[in-house]
Amino acid sequence: MVYHSVEGSTEALARAVAAGSVDVDGAGSPLVIGLGESDIAHGRLANQELIPALEDMQAIVFGSPTFMGGPTAQFKAFADATSEIWERQAWRDRVAAGFTIGSNFSGDQLATLQYFHVLAMQHGMICAGLDIPGGHDDAGRNRLGAQGGLVAHSADGKVDPSDLDTARYLGRRVTDLARRLAS
Ligand SMILES: Cc1cc2nc3c(=O)[nH]c(=O)nc-3n(C[C@H](O)[C@H](O)[C@H](O)COP(=O)(O)O)c2cc1C
Repeated sequence: MVYHSVEGSTEALARAVAAGSVDVDGAGSPLVIGLGESDIAHGRLANQELIPALEDMQAIVFGSPTFMGGPTAQFKAFADATSEIWERQAWRDRVAAGFTIGSNFSGDQLATLQYFHVLAMQHGMICAGLDIPGGHDDAGRNRLGAQGGLVAHSADGKVDPSDLDTARYLGRRVTDLARRLAS
């Protein structure tokens, strides 16, 4: 997983996605990369170790808050740095998924998920969305109803427990799908 978070709400979702992945029998510890200030310099990814570390992953989940209707500049710097991976299609057939959060209920978070989808398609990956129809889950997950990935909302920086449950579900789903595809 690769995510960027400024104030911590995306990070909370990332932790829940990681916890969901561990729920899957036989899954190893997930690689969780939170992009930090020192990873980016002059608008470009400076940490040369991040991308090689992802090469063996069977699934990669992308996470970013929605900033001005898209992923953050820091996440985009990471994405731009995957062009060498793209040339080799080294992430071909890996499972991809995404999550985002915004302070508005309909603050164009979908555009961030769609950016993740395009990135995944550029890499020849297989996108997993949420198989939970909004408003039709006994546990109340996917409360905002997006199925292209997780859209979360927080007006005050606190992450809704339902969004955390949905994030955990997404982590479990992606890991399970990757395991089934690999076999
Ligand atoms: C520069 C900036 C742009 C933002 N743009 C949006 C936006 O387009 N839509 C939205 O719903 N929220 C927007 N927000 C709110 C953040 O997405 C929200 O506060 C989020 O929870 C921050 O994530 P973090 O806690 O991981 O940093 C914006 C916040 C900032 C600082």
